[in-house]
Amino acid sequence: LAEDGSRGWLRYAPVRPTGHNTLDVPSTIVALNSTKISPVFTAGQELRNGISSILAKNVQVRADGCSNSSAVIVGTVDAYRAAYGDVKEAEALEDDGYLIHSTPDKVIILGCNERGALYGAFEYLSQIARNNVTSGVHVSNPQAPIRWTNEWDNMDGTIERGYGGASNFFRDGYVVDNVTRAAEYARLLASVGINGVVVNNVNANATLLSDRNVEGLGRLADAMRPYGVQLGVSLNFASPNATLGTFDPLDPKVDAWWANITNQIYKKVPDMAGFLVKANSEGQPGPLTYNRTLADGANMFARAVAPHGGVVMFRAFVYDNHITYANWTSDRANAQLEFFQHLDGKFDENVVVQIKYGPIDFQVREAPSPLFAALHNTSTAIELQVTPEYLGQNCHFVYLAPLWKEILDFDLRAESRPSKIKDIITGERFKRPLGGYAGVPGAGTNTTWLGSHMAMSNLYAYGKLAWDASLGSEDILQDWIRLTFGFDQKVLDTITDISMRSWPAYEGYSGNLGVQTLTDILYTHFGPNPASQDNNGWGQWLRAGNVTIGMDRTIENGTGNAGNYPPEIAEIFNDVDKTPDNLLLWFHHVPYTRRLKSNKTVIQHFYDAHYEGAASAQSFVKQWESLEGKIDKERYEHQLFRQTYQAGHSLVWRDSINEYFYNLSRIEDESNRVGNH
Ligand code: GCU
Repeated sequence: LAEDGSRGWLRYAPVRPTGHNTLDVPSTIVALNSTKISPVFTAGQELRNGISSILAKNVQVRADGCSNSSAVIVGTVDAYRAAYGDVKEAEALEDDGYLIHSTPDKVIILGCNERGALYGAFEYLSQIARNNVTSGVHVSNPQAPIRWTNEWDNMDGTIERGYGGASNFFRDGYVVDNVTRAAEYARLLASVGINGVVVNNVNANATLLSDRNVEGLGRLADAMRPYGVQLGVSLNFASPNATLGTFDPLDPKVDAWWANITNQIYKKVPDMAGFLVKANSEGQPGPLTYNRTLADGANMFARAVAPHGGVVMFRAFVYDNHITYANWTSDRANAQLEFFQHLDGKFDENVVVQIKYGPIDFQVREAPSPLFAALHNTSTAIELQVTPEYLGQNCHFVYLAPLWKEILDFDLRAESRPSKIKDIITGERFKRPLGGYAGVPGAGTNTTWLGSHMAMSNLYAYGKLAWDASLGSEDILQDWIRLTFGFDQKVLDTITDISMRSWPAYEGYSGNLGVQTLTDILYTHFGPNPASQDNNGWGQWLRAGNVTIGMDRTIENGTGNAGNYPPEIAEIFNDVDKTPDNLLLWFHHVPYTRRLKSNKTVIQHFYDAHYEGAASAQSFVKQWESLEGKIDKERYEHQLFRQTYQAGHSLVWRDSINEYFYNLSRIEDESNRVGNH
């Protein structure tokens, strides 16, 4: 049976219950007060389509119903109370949260708001589809209010760092006429709790704000609203320049210009989520041009959206890409603190500083950004890349949840108190009103959305973690596998094994010990090219010489970056003996012959890890081939092609990196695999 990849994990494939656990689900759905299009209306439709497809059952949807008859009732708590009376458990619900009360002949799905009701419906359907309905009362609240995606779609229809085809939102300079894909995408996102989509690239084009495109934004928002997904937009800081000849954020004319265009957008998109701004970064304009602070810039937008309830996501990815390699103490990783720490407390309440997980740029491994611990009076969000820009661009497969979890669970020990990043960005640790997650999926018009069926586990996991960061990577993954590929135990075990070994494999044959990915950093960000990293102004340096390698980020002798962390963490990272092996070269400049905690030398670790990583990639092909006949042909072959490519390319990676470091160091591989043997 051919599979339609565009349904992703929402396949609603028939479940054939095995023996005792036959699902008994009512055949009437009551979607409370759902006479017009709304998330609760959508919930009713999803429940009808889902239950009839998964359980081959005829189901009806009604907008009201008698409380005694057997039904699945879905709606807001308020609507339920008005119709049927009180529900005690509903007191535990927070914004966007839901409860599911499931008994054999009645299922009650209630949301704190309409969106929450839809989330509850998707969760209930997921349980049915996994043949795993939990009885009793299940309450779930999101940990973070902001759970957005940032689509890097350009107005011309291309997608920056996207590997799944053309834009779903723009073509030839304008918003597309047909918004079907936008609606389908919103459906997928809503099913994992995403509540906002910024539709255009952070490298934003001022033409987004033309009358015709503002009209188009209204169309996109209308398509996504039934799924509770709000639209947001990225802004080009210099947009007013064409009409005013200035974009100085403290010029009242500029302020008025932004207030006016913001009001125009809200006329078309009354529930717009807010703005995303990349300023003074990689050539983008910003307030520094006028000697104003980044907070001056952010607050200008904050004032414009505040009357409408919008937020401003202001990116911390600000750095100078012309720093001096010859200077031992220059360090791009220090830029975020230099630009933002002194502004703590100076941002308006509806501004959120959006911070990439590490201080450089989505590398295969980075130390967590110290900025999370440095802003106590500013709301923050974490930016995660679902699109694997530096991790094989969906020609290699890397399941990213374990990487994200490592960052989210990292305890930065601010003020010597527990300060896990996941608790900082929810607003809990520093008692902030806002905060959360921005994921960059790179979703396009390809039927797989991202360019590969397997990559969809990353989008799924992103949503699940943004909702509840305490979930385990493997548990999330296995739910996704059941929903995507069904119940075969061998399929489950094999895809679990490949996925959980995929990040270590990629790290193995790319950059080890915290040295960064070692890919080409100047253009493609694809394939091995360690030489591209040193000797330029970008600051993604290895400082790889003939005898030594690594960035010296120590306080006494290096760039001082280790001292950007709170004292308990700084003490570890500043000390070459205490720094964990996997971040050694991130923080320290050491001889290739230095012994690691594993007792291998740095260079031997490079050699071995590259062989091990590439060997894993070879084994993934065999493992995938063992699934032939257990997965539909289309998806089986699509992925087999990718795994085969990855296996070949991993050998290219292995040999080019190993030869590169052999040529630099001239140190023999103990197993005689590297060099002219
Ligand atoms: C990376 C990426 C760019 C992107 C930038 C950003 O450098 O390669 O394409 O624009 O990050 O996040 O702004």
